This record gives sequence, structure tokens and C-alpha cells, in this order.
Amino acid sequence: MGETFEPKRIIVTGGCGFIGSNFVHFVVREHPEVHVTVLDKLTYAGNPENIAGLPADRVELVVGDICDAGLVDRLVADADAVVHYAAESHNDNSIADPAPFVRTNVTGTFTLIEACRRHGVRYHHVSTDEVYGDLALDDPARFTEETPYRPSSPYSSTKAASDMLVRAWVRTYGLAATISNCSNNYGPYQHVEKFIPRQITNILDGGRPKLYGDGKNVRDWIHTEDHSSAVWTILTRGLVGETYLIGADGERSNIDVLRAILRAMGRPEDDFDWVRDRPGHDRRYAIDSTKLRRELGWMPAHTDFDQGLAATIAWYRDHESWWRPAKEATEQKYAAQGQ
Ligand code: NAD
Ligand code: DAU
Repeated sequence: MGETFEPKRIIVTGGCGFIGSNFVHFVVREHPEVHVTVLDKLTYAGNPENIAGLPADRVELVVGDICDAGLVDRLVADADAVVHYAAESHNDNSIADPAPFVRTNVTGTFTLIEACRRHGVRYHHVSTDEVYGDLALDDPARFTEETPYRPSSPYSSTKAASDMLVRAWVRTYGLAATISNCSNNYGPYQHVEKFIPRQITNILDGGRPKLYGDGKNVRDWIHTEDHSSAVWTILTRGLVGETYLIGADGERSNIDVLRAILRAMGRPEDDFDWVRDRPGHDRRYAIDSTKLRRELGWMPAHTDFDQGLAATIAWYRDHESWWRPAKEATEQKYAAQGQ
């Protein structure tokens, strides 16, 4: 199975965020022939430190908005491919204030695919398993590419809307696009608002972790490095017009993940606070990634969750200056929400 598409100049939107920046590091390390232009607005979630130190002749940062049609058009005219990560990504924020989610996730995607259509540029759309809604804890089923869309939150509904735009542009205009829907990522550079970094940094800060609801909600964890290798595989060898689910068989309840963090950090397993549940909280996500594995030969490499978690804890321990500036404001926002 050879590579069928060999991009030389790619645009990575949201390349200063968590998953986008890990993808930029992956491309610089694994594909020396590729030049990356990062297009990032540097919202509260974007940090240029995430890609600092990468060679200037390989990576260029353009600070700008994916909704800026003129800027997007100029950049896309010069590229072979766009890998679209930029988004408002946090469910709790989308419940408190959905407006930026509609703008960035829907209008931003529209702006990018219009430019790709005009210039005949290959487009990869990074999406989420949350578009499929949730599963019951005792349901033997997992999400597949055929599962009907049933998003629950303002965040996931805007991601679902953006997926639909891409599908329509493929069918109507022949846009050369692929879509991937991935499960929950963990690893370095994840914002302290998200579950795993929030609990690690609460402990490092001398505070207590916070668990929503009954703690039985299940997420399907994948290391962000495996997400990056999957996106690269789909970009270069995926069939245009197709959707691929990305997952690493990592289903775990929130309380189990929290206890693993507490154990790894030498704290008693009950040393946390129960807090108010998230409204509309999805119960369980689970990905069946058979299509990606069978058709494109992709496999996750980081399947030892305890090892990945230990490395992630060590990263936050070693990078306090990275997370410290965002910590207080994040916790103030949660406290105001009773979380
Ligand atoms: P993040 O919030 O860490 O990063 C988002 C990045 O997008 C930031 O750098 C931000 O500055 C940038 N951005 C936001 N609005 C922008 C705009 N209007 N113009 C330009 N840049 C803008 O997000 P993440 O967790 O890294 O998620 C990246 C993508 O992956 C998202 O599309 C998300 O839906 C998807 N995804 C995330 C997960 C997960 O577990 N985090 C799982 C599956 C899919
Ligand atoms: O499934 C993919 C999705 O995973 C992505 O599309 C999203 O961008 C990403 O943010 C993530 O969404 P979740 O809502 O699952 O992630 P979050 O880290 O916010 O929460 C994970 C679980 O932990 C969820 O069940 C809520 C719970 N939680 C979260 C926080 C912040 C807690 O119990 N306590 C907390 O403090």
C-alpha cells in the first residue's frame, strides 16, 4: 500500500492548540520534505510556545482567523493541502456561551472549504466522535462510520454541522476532502480546562480534583501521537470523500481515570471533590476503528494507558511555566459554574 498523495506545503489550522501542535511536531519529525504554515488566531486555547523551537524554514506561524476569507484565500492559493484542526473545542464553554462555537466551527469551516474549492486544494477535516451522541454504559455497540449523527451539546452540534458542510462540498462540488472523527485525546500541551490536565494540575497546585456527576461516564482515550499518525495516514492514503473513525480501544470511566491519576501522584484514591454535573452530559463514547485499520493499515502505538498517563503527568510536572498562566482564570470560571 503506497502513499498516493505527497503534499509538500500544508496549512495546519489551529496548530498552536493541543492536538494541532502535536501534529505539527509529528510532521516536522517524520516528514522532513513538508513545509507547514500554521494558521491560528491565538485564542485563550492557542499558545505559540507549543510550536516554539521548530525550524523556521519548516514551520511558519500566521496569526489570523479562519473566518477571514481574504487571508484564507491567499494562504490556500499557495498550499497543497489544508489540515483543519482550529475550533472552539470545550463542551463546558459551549454551554456557557455557544456563539463563538457557531462562528469558528461552522463559518470557519465554510471559509476554508470555499477556498479549497476555488484553488483545487486537498482538505482534511478533523472532527470528533461526539457527533454521534452517546451510548448507554451497558450497550455492546460502538460508533462506526455508519452511526447516525445525534450530537448533544452546542460544541458537538457545531462540529456535526461542519462535517455536513464538508460532505455536501464533496458531493456537489467534488471537493477533494476526507473527514476523521476521533475519540478523547490526552498528552502534552492540553489546556488545563480539560479533564486530565485539570486534575493533574489541581494536584500539583495543592488542590483537589473535581469529578462531575456520578463519575461513571466513559470516554475512549487515545494518545495524541496516535491521532497525529492516523490523520497523516488519512491525508496521504485515504480515499477522497471518505470518513474514517480514529480510536485506540481505550474506554475508561472518569472515576477510573481519576483514581489512576491519584495513584500515580501518590494521593489517596478518595482525595477528590464531587461537583455539579455537566448539563446534557454524554454518558459514553466508544469508537470502532476497524475501517481505518483494515483499509489503510493504521495501528495505534501508545496503547499502554498507565504509561502514557505517567508520561503526561511528568510533562505537566516539568512544564509548570507553560500551564501556570492559564490555571487561575480557568479555575475561577469553573468555580462560578459550581464545578
Ligand atoms: P484546542 O482548543 O486545544 O485548540 C484549538 C486551536 O484553534 C487553538 O490554537 C486556537 O487558538 C485555534 N483557534 C480557535 N478559533 C480560531 C479561529 N477562529 N481561527 C484560527 N484559529 C482558531 O483544541 P484541540 O483539543 O487541540 O482540538 C483540535 C481539533 O480536534 C478540534 O477541531 C476538535 O474538535 C478536534 N478533536 C479534539 C479532540 C480532543 O480530545 N481534544 C478529539 C477529537 C477531535
Ligand atoms: O470525544 C472527543 C471530545 O473529547 C472532543 O471533541 C472535545 O474537543 C474534547 O474536549 C473532549 O470532550 P469531553 O467533553 O469528553 O472532554 P473533557 O476533558 O471536557 O471531559 C472528559 C470527561 O470528564 C467528561 O465526561 C466530563 C468529565 N469531567 C471534565 C472536567 C473538566 C469531570 O468529571 N471533571 C472535570 O473537571
